[in-house]
Amino acid sequence: MAILKIARMGHPVLRRRAEEVADPTAPEITRLAFDMRETMADAGGVGLAAPQVHVPLRVVLFQVPGPRGGGDGVPLTVLVNPEVEPLDDELDTAFEACLSVPGLTGAVPRYRRVRYRGFDIRGRAIEREAEGFHARVVQHECDHLDGVLYPMRMADMGSFGFVDEMRRAAAVEEGQERAEQGDDGD
Ligand code: NI
Repeated sequence: MAILKIARMGHPVLRRRAEEVADPTAPEITRLAFDMRETMADAGGVGLAAPQVHVPLRVVLFQVPGPRGGGDGVPLTVLVNPEVEPLDDELDTAFEACLSVPGLTGAVPRYRRVRYRGFDIRGRAIEREAEGFHARVVQHECDHLDGVLYPMRMADMGSFGFVDEMRRAAAVEEGQERAEQGDDGD
């Protein structure tokens, strides 16, 4: 296994449509999935798409931690040749970040509920319905396969910014609110 180099916004591999995988059970796809898992763990992400490691194939993986998945979370899932469809028109807007857009974050509208399909690396079909953060992660990762990065989905570019600046601003705002409430900050 190996930790792979992550492509950043501006690299052409992130802008093109990735190719279908002919055989999800091929040894090179298994190796890719393991390397992507190691790369994602090293980078501290919750999802990764093959184009982000310079491989223009339709492979994504993700993991939803329990508290963000609305309870049980979603175990590490590799999806080969995934397809996503919204279950209705309802959208949610929430902040996203991406290993290919390091240091930045922005608010992105996504479908609240989706169904997705694909294959695992043993060739078994996966079909699930997802909502909330789980649905968001799947849409974000699958967008990478079509050359779409989250800033391209943003409705309000005013919400785009550097994570550390926005954390600092939020902390200052919180401090001001506490001062106004006469809270001594404990
Ligand atoms: Ni991403």
